[in-house]
Amino acid sequence: QELQGHVSIILLGATGDLARKYLWQGLFQLYLDEAGKGHSFSFHGAALTTTKQGQEIMAKVLESLSCPEDVAPGRCAELKDQFQGLSRYRQLKTPEDYAALSEDVEALVRHEGRREAGRLFYFSVPPFAYADIARSINSSCRPGPGAWLRVVLEKPFGHDHRSAQQLATELGSFFQEEEMYRVDHYLGKQAVAQILPFRDQNRKALDGLWNRHHVERVEIIMKETVDAEGRTSFYEEYGVIRDVLQNHLTEVLTLVAMELPYNASSAEAVLQHKLQAFRALRGLRSASAVLGQYRAYGAQVRRELHKPDSFHSLTPTFAGILVHVDNLRWEGVPFILMSGKALDERVGYVRILFKNRAFCAQSQKDWVTARSPCLPQQVIFYIGHGELGAPAVLVSRSLFKPTLPSKSWKEVGGRPGLRLFGRPLSDYYAYSPVREQDAYATLISHIFHGRKGSFVTTETLLASWAFWTPLLDSLSREVPRVYPGGAENGHLLDFEFTGSQLAFCQQQVAQLVRGPGS
Ligand code: BG6
Repeated sequence: QELQGHVSIILLGATGDLARKYLWQGLFQLYLDEAGKGHSFSFHGAALTTTKQGQEIMAKVLESLSCPEDVAPGRCAELKDQFQGLSRYRQLKTPEDYAALSEDVEALVRHEGRREAGRLFYFSVPPFAYADIARSINSSCRPGPGAWLRVVLEKPFGHDHRSAQQLATELGSFFQEEEMYRVDHYLGKQAVAQILPFRDQNRKALDGLWNRHHVERVEIIMKETVDAEGRTSFYEEYGVIRDVLQNHLTEVLTLVAMELPYNASSAEAVLQHKLQAFRALRGLRSASAVLGQYRAYGAQVRRELHKPDSFHSLTPTFAGILVHVDNLRWEGVPFILMSGKALDERVGYVRILFKNRAFCAQSQKDWVTARSPCLPQQVIFYIGHGELGAPAVLVSRSLFKPTLPSKSWKEVGGRPGLRLFGRPLSDYYAYSPVREQDAYATLISHIFHGRKGSFVTTETLLASWAFWTPLLDSLSREVPRVYPGGAENGHLLDFEFTGSQLAFCQQQVAQLVRGPGS
């Protein structure tokens, strides 16, 4: 094996929630995948926490790491020992601390008799800390010539277009665009990551279908059962649109709507085409949105943020938004984006429903209520949870038999009795990943390999904020409907999309929004 350089990975915010839940496991997975392929590694957990406390927390996290099922327990223990041996904690506060880290990495590289390949800084810290950290890295901790620097940033990337622009300008004064990897973890979810490859591999079947002539509507849905308890200070400021629609659901929308580049594996081409899709989104008016707030939210906010009884929050915890893409391919096709907290089920999916006029002359109403004998033809990227409980790609058998990458996805049979969108699973060609992998592990691997196609660039970020900000401004004083429960829940469902097909979309979203117990 050719001797490659040394890669140091610095996890900032190493003792925080995200790091403990996902990032250390993702880094361990990277080590499992890459150890023995030539590179050497060091992992540096860093935070403001004192060294002693940080070391204790980190030791616990590293102890809890797990291996994939196909690694034997003995081998797993060995690999964990190795990983722990390569990992250390340090307190990083001042530029001098960053300079000391840099010297330590250089000493390590010399000691190994290698060259330095690169440094990866993962910012798992709140955005207000970004600028100071970025300044310190830039002034005191860049790797030497010939080695790469990659910085990984976590949302929120601003609060509206102006603040996102400010943050981007600030970061841009320290880092080159190619050095920045902005994470949207939905782009690492297996079903989402499959949208472009699926479109690419099934070009022949989809070429004539993936357009306004044949697509009835697209639904991009992320329903959550958890509420915002314990997070209301964040949630009050952001609300559901900023929290998940501006980023996760819009990213997914562009993967469905964008033109497919000739070379779909070129990150540059993908990002360019995606940017065009962002720019083709038709400006939203408040009539395109229905906002809701689960009933207990107000009291949670008053309690957690010490507000008086007279305080009424206007923050939406649910949004259903109707989006149109203004280009020839998608003119007139409704894209319905919907997400909410404290709903009846946890599920995420993208569903492309095809028109079925040749077979079916039913009214839209019948179709919506699924009483119709007419079979909807659809492609579904099932992100996870819900009835299936796992990621999947499903295609109605009456549509076409798709091709999926045979090494990473397998065809699955249906559990008897299981129905999805009103149809037995046997009505679909269904595929699921051979090995389920967490989104963060996937994205960390892309970052290590310098594959930028699954990350948010400054341009796409600003294009997304440019799309959402006018709506957010116009909705800022709107009172969300309260859900769930009896009459109020009914009231929520009775929202006011206007425009052409919209009685239809209203019903559609109405079906999707059910509060717990209703
Ligand atoms: C995060 C949001 O980005 O995504 C959370 O801040 C949300 O509010 C979460 O719960 C959902 O992600 P997942 O992977 O659990 O579906």
